Amino acid sequence: MRLAGKVAIVTGGTRGLGRAIAEAYVKEGCQVVCAAREAGPDGAGDLAFRQVDVRDPASVRALMRTVYDAYGRLDLLVANAGVSRPGPSAELAPQDWAEVIDTNLNGTFLCAREAVPYLEKDGGGRIVTMSSALATRVARGSAAYASSKAAIEMFTRVAAVEFAPRGITVNCLSPGFIDEGMGRELARNERLWSHYGGKISVGRAGGADDVARAALFLAVEDSAYVNGHVLEVNGGLSW
Ligand SMILES: NC(=O)c1ccc[n+]([C@@H]2O[C@H](COP(=O)([O-])OP(=O)(O)OC[C@H]3O[C@@H](n4cnc5c(N)ncnc54)[C@H](OP(=O)(O)O)[C@@H]3O)[C@@H](O)[C@H]2O)c1
Repeated sequence: MRLAGKVAIVTGGTRGLGRAIAEAYVKEGCQVVCAAREAGPDGAGDLAFRQVDVRDPASVRALMRTVYDAYGRLDLLVANAGVSRPGPSAELAPQDWAEVIDTNLNGTFLCAREAVPYLEKDGGGRIVTMSSALATRVARGSAAYASSKAAIEMFTRVAAVEFAPRGITVNCLSPGFIDEGMGRELARNERLWSHYGGKISVGRAGGADDVARAALFLAVEDSAYVNGHVLEVNGGLSW
């Protein structure tokens, strides 16, 4: 029970990787609030749910305040909510570009910004952001998504330095081919798999549990001296 007594918010915790991370934290005794625009067909299961649109500053501010008021503390933020709008840059609709930057990058900034005053109240806390292997690897059609993730990695490094004196560490997870959530189609697409599969050194796509275990490491005492780090969870991917 390495997170007993702690309170976490996982944005995008209703499905996919966020859901797996939330469940991993709960198993360690954490009170987790999953936050997204919709609860989803089965809600967040046994997990607490709060509505949020991470693109909206007022909505994000209200999320942090209501969670703090309800549970009396906030120790962990996993800024996981994200979207992808693939397409060649010359044809990508400006609103698709804006949607990705707004959700992924601006949403991460807003959640971190609004969580800091609560995280620092009870002796500090942790922020985990979400990048992607595409932040540092070139793939056609990934411009909006990859740009948003590259910026999240840099935001992580700057925020880590800025928030450290307030007792808050900021680290980033960078998943690769994960057979879950938005990666499921890719991991099961034979054409893509024949192209990229051989580039994963451990020879398999990742599972949500691979990402959740890494997210757990960044939340527990073992990573107390890790700050501003981008942890790749991609089975050793080279291309
Ligand atoms: N799965 C992969 O292979 C993979 C690989 C690398 C990185 N990642 C990253 O990991 C994170 C999770 O991905 P996933 O695969 O689990 O995605 P997913 O299954 O599509 O889930 C995305 C989550 O984000 C929430 N969300 C989206 N827009 C939101 C908004 N404006 N406000 C609040 N919540 C919002 C969604 O809920 P609502 O739609 O109800 O709001 C949902 O809970 C993302 O940041 C993604 O870029 C995933």
